[in-house]
Amino acid sequence: MATKKMVVTGGAGFIGSHAAEHFSEEGWNVVAVDNLSRGKMLGVAGIDTSAYNWRHLSGNGKIELVNASTADERRMDELISDADAVLHTAGQVAVTTSLKDPRKDFDTNIIGTFNVLEACRKSGRNPAVVFCSTNKVYGENVNSIEVELSGNRYRYSDGRYDKGIPEHFPVDGCEHTPYGASKLAADLYVQEYGHTYGLKTGVFRMSCIYGTRQFGNEDQGWVAHFLLSALRNKEITIYGDGRQVRDVLYVTDLVKAYDAFLSSHLRHGVFNMGGGPANTISLLELLERIQELTGIRPAFRFDRWRNGDQKVYISDISRARAQLNWEPAVGIQEGLNNMVNWIKNEIRTGEKAKEA
Ligand SMILES: NC(=O)c1ccc[n+]([C@@H]2O[C@H](COP(=O)([O-])OP(=O)(O)OC[C@H]3O[C@@H](n4cnc5c(N)ncnc54)[C@H](O)[C@@H]3O)[C@@H](O)[C@H]2O)c1
Repeated sequence: MATKKMVVTGGAGFIGSHAAEHFSEEGWNVVAVDNLSRGKMLGVAGIDTSAYNWRHLSGNGKIELVNASTADERRMDELISDADAVLHTAGQVAVTTSLKDPRKDFDTNIIGTFNVLEACRKSGRNPAVVFCSTNKVYGENVNSIEVELSGNRYRYSDGRYDKGIPEHFPVDGCEHTPYGASKLAADLYVQEYGHTYGLKTGVFRMSCIYGTRQFGNEDQGWVAHFLLSALRNKEITIYGDGRQVRDVLYVTDLVKAYDAFLSSHLRHGVFNMGGGPANTISLLELLERIQELTGIRPAFRFDRWRNGDQKVYISDISRARAQLNWEPAVGIQEGLNNMVNWIKNEIRTGEKAKEA
């Protein structure tokens, strides 16, 4: 059988680069497409993050790297014309940026996704589409669930959400932030291209994904941001009281869920994706864990709550479990350990050599 081609948009990003690597190892002919904007926009001081991930992928020798933007309709048509699957991770990823520059957010997340979908439709090959959506599609509705304090964390007081937020949770009638709105529009468009044009479509509404090669900063990727800051002796600002809770999912587990969807007989799916109730952590708890793991006491200060922040977000992953036969395999301790080792061995070693 001929090798199948997969286009990974945002291939130089955190999730895209892990996905590209995984599917290449699984025998796909992977083309990673990225405009390398992350490095410039949200780069962690001193590191061009896109270039770092790009270099990492080029080491694989089998992944084709293409510098192109999802804004370029004709390029998307060309690249996707013979694809069997598209994993669409490219996006404007930060709530904060979406508030400052809503047009950029709109163009990247809505027009970019539309170009990718149109390229899929026009190819006439019905490629499968996996889309990186977000828990932010549920917007402020999440904050309508009552929460209570329990030590260093909030928790839902409404027992209906003991397993977390399910996919049928309402998405409308509330504030979202421009990021939440653009991702929701794209999420619905992907679903619609499944229903109307017959593409196999998987929409993954993800909470907090973390892992190596994640260059988190204040705007996005908080687990990586906390670890990078602590190991570089930089002060962390906690917006709110630090008792916010998230379910966290290690990136390799996420990629396995994409794979399970692509190899399944499902035609369409919308999945809430995160570590679920077994893998939750609050901001203050993460600071404690970092101290236990590294011996470094992270410096931090508090500031006001930020727009669109959710006090508790936990994904109900029952549907993914049942329909994809999938389960998170990497626990928080192991995931954090992997990241600490990566930062110490690859990031800090390089930085220290430059400083010397
Ligand atoms: N990381 C998370 O916890 C998380 C959670 C929910 C949703 N998501 C979604 O997952 C996707 C991937 O997130 P990530 O954490 O890997 O972010 P990332 O910033 O590391 O990766 C996104 C990549 O897209 C590229 N990109 C941006 N605009 C582009 C364009 N117009 N054309 C081509 N490439 C472009 C960037 O250069 C970057 O390499 C995003 O769509 C994000 O909204 C991520």
